[in-house]
Order: sequence, then structure tokens, then C-alpha cells
Amino acid sequence: MAKKFYLTTPLYYVNASPHIGHSYTTIAADCLARYMRPRIGKENVWLLTGTDEHGQKIQRAAEKEGLGAQEFADKTVVRFKSLWQELDISYDDFIRTTEPRHTNTVEKVLDILHEKGDIYEAKYQGWYCVPCETFWTDSQVSEKKCPDCLRPLEKISEANYFFKLSKYQDRLIRHIKANPDFIKPVIRYNEVLSFLELNKLTDLCISRPKERLEWGIELPFSPGHVTYVWFDALINYISAVGEFDNQGNYHSKWWPADLHLIGKDILRQHAIYWPIMLFALDIEPPKTIFAHGWWLINESKMSKSTGNVVSPLEISKKFGVETYRYFLLRDVAFGQDGNFSEEAIIKRFNSDLANDLGNLIYRTLTMAEKYFQGNIPAAKQTLETPQAKNIEEKIKSLDARVFDALGAESAVNFSQALEAIWELINIANKFIEDTKPWNLAKEKKTEELGDFILLLINTIKEVSGQLLPFMPKTAEAIKAQIRGDKVKKGKPLFPRIDIQNSNL
Ligand code: ME8
Ligand code: MG
Repeated sequence: MAKKFYLTTPLYYVNASPHIGHSYTTIAADCLARYMRPRIGKENVWLLTGTDEHGQKIQRAAEKEGLGAQEFADKTVVRFKSLWQELDISYDDFIRTTEPRHTNTVEKVLDILHEKGDIYEAKYQGWYCVPCETFWTDSQVSEKKCPDCLRPLEKISEANYFFKLSKYQDRLIRHIKANPDFIKPVIRYNEVLSFLELNKLTDLCISRPKERLEWGIELPFSPGHVTYVWFDALINYISAVGEFDNQGNYHSKWWPADLHLIGKDILRQHAIYWPIMLFALDIEPPKTIFAHGWWLINESKMSKSTGNVVSPLEISKKFGVETYRYFLLRDVAFGQDGNFSEEAIIKRFNSDLANDLGNLIYRTLTMAEKYFQGNIPAAKQTLETPQAKNIEEKIKSLDARVFDALGAESAVNFSQALEAIWELINIANKFIEDTKPWNLAKEKKTEELGDFILLLINTIKEVSGQLLPFMPKTAEAIKAQIRGDKVKKGKPLFPRIDIQNSNL
């Protein structure tokens, strides 16, 4: 396992409130951080999140509300922070791109690259998509529409500064080929590699004239320009955790990042621009960039600009934070797209949480109270059946199976980990049904009955330990019901949702 683990989420734009997509990446990152902390030491894990606050999108959103850009950002950043609190996100640091620690580092990067000749001045002509904050050339554009989002483009012609992406293209290709874990999942790896092999990169325009955009970090060598928001924002991953010395060398105890978690919408910026920026700065690239899929609503991507967003606050109020976290990480294999619906949440809730997990706990603790006055029975070694042995083995091997999914080098497979946990839950439930414990009680086979309940309690303990990163409050609640050598059954953790009576 890695000695230290530095992982990041994207810095979300503050032009609107967070939606389910934002909470997805952040919950996934939180789950990984919670998984790693007890295993490599809390002090060796660093989870960074934050907000992207510059650029035209935000300037325009602020103007619409009649606020200054900073004032507007100060207002919306609160919605992100309070949502993360509500969703139990255990971030170690939250960076805003308007903080001095960030803007100073961006200025430093600009100076270093300008002096080195990797940033140069030239005239820019082409198309610009404001919602995507992306430039397009004539050959990429048809009918004046953004090739990505199909919204109308703006024509632009102006003096600007460019970053020499093209100079490092071959090096990036070599780096990707030598590091199969650099971009994940493999479909994204292939996508980036074939793009680089088939296209010649054009240099990246990294400035905006102030007449067109004021809200950004001023170029230290050209006060008439501000920095392109993507060039600015990517630097957060180093500005949050380290510093440049006077010789222009970067120092950080956390860098290189072990994992940048992103959505596939921002793969190009992370897998092409960012490593090249780092090459130019003589800084090691991140170890892994994982681009997950999209949550869709009726087949189209949930997005602020499309307006088909669902509020994570509303959903987690309705179904509970724990259910919400579980659903997002369980329902879709990480990397693939998924359809979001309340029906799908209810289905998962009723089958996996109420029926499988909830019943296992409730029945086991009920039996311990009924037959052993709430004491955890002492082991008498009477269970020799293959079924019991199988459960014992599954308890022992669960940690390794979850490790394969979450802890192994660059493994990020939440649903696989949860499937392994549920396999144990399900065989334990089957064990209860097959054993018919009430008969053991009737026949006064107290020792067998005790061993049977003990095995179930050990199952629940292992399960709740492994569930901790996914559902921290549930794991706590289960722990509170099994303490020392006693059990104390609480209310059912997941009472079934009656679809007829829910307001769907
Ligand atoms: O792109 N499904 O910010 P952003 C899954 N500021 N995840 C989704 C999603 C969906 N429908 N919609 C959004 C930006 N996301 C830049 C990033 S990083 C230095 C700068 C998640 O507010 C996903 O992680 O548009 C995606 O990559 C991110 O939100 C984009 O957030
Ligand atoms: Mg976006």
C-alpha cells in the first residue's frame, strides 16, 4: 500500500449550486480517504477539494445577480462547504482559487514559464465557448457551435499569451505509454493516447485581454491580461500543498498526487494540459488520473448549464445521507455512466439496506436478546458444517477482497468492494434461514445456538468495519449496538420504504 496518499477532487465552479454530479466525485474521494486513513495512518492521507472561482462564467453569473465577482463567489462557496458538511465529507483542505496562497503560486508559475520561453505572445484568432471556457479553431467548428456542448460560440481575435503544449507532446505520449496506471479507466487511457497519436497539439492560449474579461489572475508580465481559468485552476493541486523556492524549484511533502479524481468531462485538461504544465515546470506528474462517468437524467448529462440538475441536499434529506452515499457508490461501476432516479434509490434501499443488511442485524440482535439476555455467547466450537466454515472463511477474507477493490495500487472500484461485503451479508442471511434457530432453541441445543449467534455477530462486526468508509454513521450505529460482550438492539436502521405511500 502507498506510504502516503494525496487525493483530490476537481475544483468546482461557483457559478451555481452543487448538484449530484459534484457530490458524486466528492463522496467517492471521501470514501477512499476514509478507507486509507486507518490503514496507512491519518497523518499520511490528504484529501483536497475546493472551488474554481475565476473566469467568464463566474463573472457573468455575478453580473446577473448584480454582485461583484468576489462577493458572488463568497456567497456560493458557502453552499459547497455546507453541503460537504451535510454529506460527511472529511476533507483535509479546501482551496479557493481566489486565495493568496493560490494566486501567488499561479503568478510564480507564469513567471517561470515565461522566462523559460514556454509562454510566448501571439495573435489569437478563433472561437470561444463561454460555458466550457474553451477555445476552438476554425477546423474544429461547424455552424458556429461548440463541438462539446453544441451551444453558440463567440468569434475572437486578439493579442494573447500561449503555452507551448506542442513542445511536450512526444514526452507526454512516452509518459503515458510507460505508465499504464497514469490514466484510468482503460477506456480513457486509450482515448487520450489515440488522440495524442492522431493529432498535433496546438499551443494553449492562457490569457484573456482585460477588456473582455477582468475576473482572473493578472499576468505578472502583462497587466493588460488575466490568466485563462483552466491554466489557473489546475495549479491548485500544487499550490495547496507546497511552494516554489527562489530558484523556481517546487517543494511539497505531498506531491506527486496519488490520485486526481475527476469526471470524464474534464479529462483533456487533466491528462494533457496538466502533465505538460508540470513537465515544463520540472515537476513530476500525478501518479493516476481517474475519470469517472456521468450521472444522467433521461439519457442526458446532469449539468448546471443544461438545467436538469437534482439537488443532493434534497435527495439526502429525503432518503438519508447514508443511503445516498451508498446508492451513488453501489449502483454504477465507477467509470461508467448511470441513470439517476428516485425509483433506483428506493430499489437499492429496500433490497440491499432494509432487506439484506438491516434484517441481518435486526434478526441477529433479536436472537441474542431473546435467547441470551443480550449477552454475546462464548465460543463453544460446535459448528462444523460447511456452511458455517464458509462464513468463517468469508469473514477472514473480506478485508483482502475490499483491499483488491480500494487499496491496491490505483484500484478504485467501489461497487466491487460493496459486492464483496454483500456476498457475506447474503450468505449469513441464508445461514439463518437454513439453520432455523428457533428449532435449536426448542431442542435446547444452547451451545449450537450460541455459536450460531456468535458467528452472525462476528459477521456483522466485520461487515460494519468494512462499511465505515462508505457509510460512516451506519458503521457507528452498528458498533453502538454491539459493545464489549453485550448487544443492545436499537430501532431498525433501514425501515423499508413503502413505494405506494411515498410521494413518487
Ligand atoms: O469543470 N455526473 O467544474 P464543474 C458525474 N472548475 N459527475 C459530474 C457531473 C455528472 N453529471 N457533473 C459534474 C469544472 N460532475 C472545473 C474543474 S479542476 C482543476 C477544475 C463532477 O463545476 C465531475 O467531477 O463543471 C466533473 O468533472 C466536475 O463535477 C465538473 O465540475
Ligand atoms: Mg462542467
